Amino acid sequence: MKRAWKDKVFVITGASSGIGRATALALAKKGAHLVLAARREEPLDDLAQQCEALGIRCLAVLTDVTDSAAVRALATQALHAFGRIDGWVNNAGVYLVGRLEETPDDAFRQVMETNFFGTVYGSRAALAQFRHQGRGTLVNVSSVYGSTAGPYVSAYAASKFAVRGFSASIRQEFEGTGIHVCTILPASVDTPLWQHTANYTGWRARPVEPVYSPERVARAIVHVLAHPRRELFIGPSRRAFTVLHSLLPALTEKSLRSMTDAKHFEHQRQPRTSGNLFRPMSQGIGRSAGYRSPARQWFKRLLLAGGLVATLASLRRTAAARRLGLQVVNALGA
Ligand SMILES: NC(=O)c1ccc[n+]([C@@H]2O[C@H](COP(=O)([O-])OP(=O)(O)OC[C@H]3O[C@@H](n4cnc5c(N)ncnc54)[C@H](OP(=O)(O)O)[C@@H]3O)[C@@H](O)[C@H]2O)c1
Repeated sequence: MKRAWKDKVFVITGASSGIGRATALALAKKGAHLVLAARREEPLDDLAQQCEALGIRCLAVLTDVTDSAAVRALATQALHAFGRIDGWVNNAGVYLVGRLEETPDDAFRQVMETNFFGTVYGSRAALAQFRHQGRGTLVNVSSVYGSTAGPYVSAYAASKFAVRGFSASIRQEFEGTGIHVCTILPASVDTPLWQHTANYTGWRARPVEPVYSPERVARAIVHVLAHPRRELFIGPSRRAFTVLHSLLPALTEKSLRSMTDAKHFEHQRQPRTSGNLFRPMSQGIGRSAGYRSPARQWFKRLLLAGGLVATLASLRRTAAARRLGLQVVNALGA
């Protein structure tokens, strides 16, 4: 299996923390060579060293994905170093919470510049090289908010819907060429995104449960790089919301609003901030940010196990009742 990855070359944007960082490590462990991009130098260099220690070649390129020339230069540097690109992951992204009325125009626009136009520039650069090679896999990271929007995320949801629609369109343009375009739609993930978020609500934001690990998303990205598919949701509960939304849109939107109000914020005030929209932040350089504490996970597992036991017990009771009913029916000769 490792042989299949050996000497393959992948570009990952937004690699300095979170999902991008986890994806880089997952690919490095498989033996692939990497080109890592983000704005923060120190965490990127540190990651490159970690990856190289796993025996692969790694190039860190400081890149702001809102700058189309910088993204083209990223592709050029990757080709200079490795001679080809097998896969490109447009993962760089920013988050913003705030009512539309509270969100400044420039902040709204910067979310689109990063999440959507950053993906457009990355896709153009990658697809030009893939066309030249006659093969390659592009992975664009959208979000469950690219499928069903909640309140207070109008800029983010617009950008992620745009990524999803854009990817679906170019996927069809490359149909049958050996070039694949895949979209990843994760639910809440435990990453520094929640420390980096722009926030105009006045309340500290937190991911809505259930929260998945960045490693789980990284595994999904690695999987589609090896076995391309159109779209992949990560987080069954939010996928269920998408299905529910197509069946009962008004009810789903009402419950999304209540769920967001109840679960998306801490009981802690926070001053308005543009987070890492315009400038990278020094904090939040790891893969995760502690939203999935082991104690909490164990507690959830216990609850789940308790629920399963209760369900099994009630099923047994139902089966026993059914058996008893059958005996009575038999005894009555019905
Ligand atoms: N965490 C979640 O719950 C979740 C759920 C669904 C989808 N996603 C998506 O997953 C992707 C990764 O996010 P994450 O959760 O891993 O958050 P994160 O830890 O904040 O990572 C975001 C990455 O994007 C980079 N970035 C931001 N602006 C950039 C710019 N202008 N140019 C280049 N790089 C930039 C950041 O690095 P620098 O600051 O160093 O540039 C960082 O490496 C994003 O697209 C996000 O929307 C996340």
